[in-house]
Amino acid sequence: MRKPFVAGNWKMNKTIAETRDLISAMTEKLNEIKNVEKVVCPPFISLQTAHELLRNTEIGVGAQNMFWEEKGAFTGEVAPAMIKELCDYVILGHSERRAYFGETDALVNKKLLAAQKFDLTPIVCVGETLEQYESNQTSQVVSAQTKLGLADVPADFAPRIVVAYEPVWAIGTGKASTGEAANVVIKDVIRKSIAELYGESTAQAIRVLYGGSVTGANAKEFFSQPDIDGALVGGASLKVDDFIQIVKQTQ
Ligand code: PGA
Repeated sequence: MRKPFVAGNWKMNKTIAETRDLISAMTEKLNEIKNVEKVVCPPFISLQTAHELLRNTEIGVGAQNMFWEEKGAFTGEVAPAMIKELCDYVILGHSERRAYFGETDALVNKKLLAAQKFDLTPIVCVGETLEQYESNQTSQVVSAQTKLGLADVPADFAPRIVVAYEPVWAIGTGKASTGEAANVVIKDVIRKSIAELYGESTAQAIRVLYGGSVTGANAKEFFSQPDIDGALVGGASLKVDDFIQIVKQTQ
């Protein structure tokens, strides 16, 4: 049985003061929803605030990125050990990092190996662009991203990886995929690729989320699919009622 998982990716939104307000406004209600792993991912600079506010709750904290090296002359980067003091999760390979900051599958894989080393639960994002979708390349693209991004971790760590299937054309557009279409990609491409890397039981153990314009109104459509274990939520995770509504739909 895979435990449902919902993470809020705040992206580059909220100051430290605003983080305090948003987390304070959602903590009690969010904490009441059981049997689902709940995580908020604010910007680096707010991780300390999130960590302090959520310390005695069942709500986890995640970073949105990290560097793979342990320390040194890498101006502007943040090391795995630094975020590990403040959180237990890290989003890797988000399509915005791939598109705007040149992240490749090889870089995502280095970060994944660093996450394993520092005992962070990685949320690895994969998904095709609109152009790739329209030219029927979804399977090919998502399978390559999964196999290259998830390669070479120790077999005992692999089941801990969380994968988020986020079609780029669905992110921030208000045009979500459908439950059925997302389930097909997750089952026939993502779990199949994981099975090729780590075997069928790991492919069945790994949580795979859907992401891209998830709202309280459409979350159930995704969560009711057999291969979708939750959501990576962007825009709606910045609104208390919407985020709580989404998390409730896992019940
Ligand atoms: P969205 O973003 O929910 O705003 O579409 C999802 C994501 O980028 O993780």
